[in-house]
Amino acid sequence: MKNTTLINRYASLASWVYHIDKPIGRSFGDVEYYRERLKNIQGTILEPASGNGRILIPLLESGLNIEGFDASAEMLAYCEQECQKRGLNGKFRQEMFNTFTYTAPYEAIIIPAGSFQLITDINEAIEVLKRFKLALKENGRLIIDLSLLSSLAEPPMLARQWNVPNGMLTLTESRVETNYITQTTMSQLRYEHWDNEKGLINSEIDLFALRFWGVKEFELALQAVGFTEITISSNYNYLDTPNEETHTVTFEASF
Ligand SMILES: C[S@@+](CC[C@H](N)C(=O)[O-])C[C@H]1O[C@@H](n2cnc3c(N)ncnc32)[C@H](O)[C@@H]1O
Repeated sequence: MKNTTLINRYASLASWVYHIDKPIGRSFGDVEYYRERLKNIQGTILEPASGNGRILIPLLESGLNIEGFDASAEMLAYCEQECQKRGLNGKFRQEMFNTFTYTAPYEAIIIPAGSFQLITDINEAIEVLKRFKLALKENGRLIIDLSLLSSLAEPPMLARQWNVPNGMLTLTESRVETNYITQTTMSQLRYEHWDNEKGLINSEIDLFALRFWGVKEFELALQAVGFTEITISSNYNYLDTPNEETHTVTFEASF
C-alpha cells in the first residue's frame, strides 16, 4: 500500500497527543544523554525531525546552539509556542529528511527517539545518511538512536487515552503489516477526540511505518557512506555494550 500523504504525517490530533504524552523535557534518559554528549560543542547542532521541541528546547536552554527541522507544520507549531512561552529564539523550519537544506555545515547532527526509523525504504535511508555526512563539518558527529530489531516482533500497543478539557483523546493501533524481509511495520494509528457532551468531534488516521535495523547492519550502513569512527551505546549509557536488557541503541559516528 502506498499513501504517502498519510504516512508518518503527525497531523493535528497526532501532534496534540504527542505534545501531551511527550511534553518539553520529558526524558527517556535521552535528554541528559544528549546534553552530556554535546556539552563541549560551541558550533551549531542540527536536530532533524525535532518535532514539538521535547529535546531541542532543553538543549537550547542549556546554552547549546541547536536548530531543528520537521516535516509536520503541526509539530513545529507546538515547538514555536513553547519557545515563545520561554522567551527563546528557537530556529526551526519545515523540511524533510531527504531534501533538507542548510547554509553552513554542522558540528553535530542528532536524531533521538528512533525518528530515523520513520524512513522505511533502505535505499532512501542510505541516501539520508549520505546527506547527513555532507551536512557535517570534518570531525563533526552524527548521533542516532534506534530501537532494537526485536521490536519488529512485538505486538501492537494497547489502546491509550488522555484527559483533555471537557473530554478525552484516544489512540488505537491496528497493525496492517509486519514484513520480516524489509524489516518494516505498517500500522493505522486512529486518533479520536471525544467531547463529554457532543461525543466524537474529530478523528484522524495516521499510517505509521517504521524500519527496524540490526546493530551490525546499521554500523555497516554508516561505514558504507564513509563514517570511520563509530561507537555503539546501550540504554543511554555511553559505550555500554547492548545486551538482552537493551531497548535503545545509540550510534555515534564521525569521519
Ligand atoms: C517521534 S517524533 C520525534 C520528535 C522529537 N525529535 C523528540 O525527540 O521528541 C518524530 C518526528 O519526525 C517527524 N517526521 C516524520 N517524517 C519526517 C520526514 N520525512 N522528515 C522530517 N521529519 C519527519 C514527525 O513530524 C515527528 O515530529
